[in-house]
Amino acid sequence: MLFTPTPIGFVRSQYQQTADIPKGFGARHDAEGVLEIKPEFEAGLTDIEGFSHLFVIWMFDRSEGFELLGTPPIDDRPHGVFATRSPRRPNPIGLSVVELLRREDCRLRVRGVDMLDGTPILDIKPYLSSVPADTLRRGWVADAEKRHSTRSDR
Ligand SMILES: C[S@@+](CC[C@H](N)C(=O)[O-])C[C@H]1O[C@@H](n2cnc3c(N)ncnc32)[C@H](O)[C@@H]1O
Repeated sequence: MLFTPTPIGFVRSQYQQTADIPKGFGARHDAEGVLEIKPEFEAGLTDIEGFSHLFVIWMFDRSEGFELLGTPPIDDRPHGVFATRSPRRPNPIGLSVVELLRREDCRLRVRGVDMLDGTPILDIKPYLSSVPADTLRRGWVADAEKRHSTRSDR
């Protein structure tokens, strides 16, 4: 029971190429951008203004192929693709949490984009996290951060 995804809109961002997007330790994702939703889906934005943050589900439309093991920018060790946020995935689906700044009809101005300009948007959902912070485990990311801070202290 597979479906053919139809973009509900496109990201407008300041990033034209992947090298423009901050990566690595200390990278901040506070760039503003616009989620431009197609007019035929505008009714689906009804009541979205009440949410401070949104999940944006989108397509890595400019990545090719996938690798099951890869070394992320914040580590020097390989990890499985499903334990990373790599753009090179079997199904090239991206997931970003953005802050909703305002809605102007079909346009959502948001903060926190890490997508290239023109990225197809597949879905938007309100961000509601019910996971208490003290129960989260950060896996290899926590180890990489610890090694990085030890090295920076030297
Ligand atoms: C590490 S991924 C994380 C994306 C998302 N937050 C996630 O977790 O799925 C972010 C990187 O994807 C790449 N990227 C962004 N938009 C893309 C697009 N439309 N096609 C291919 N690669 C893209 C850029 O290199 C960017 O730095």
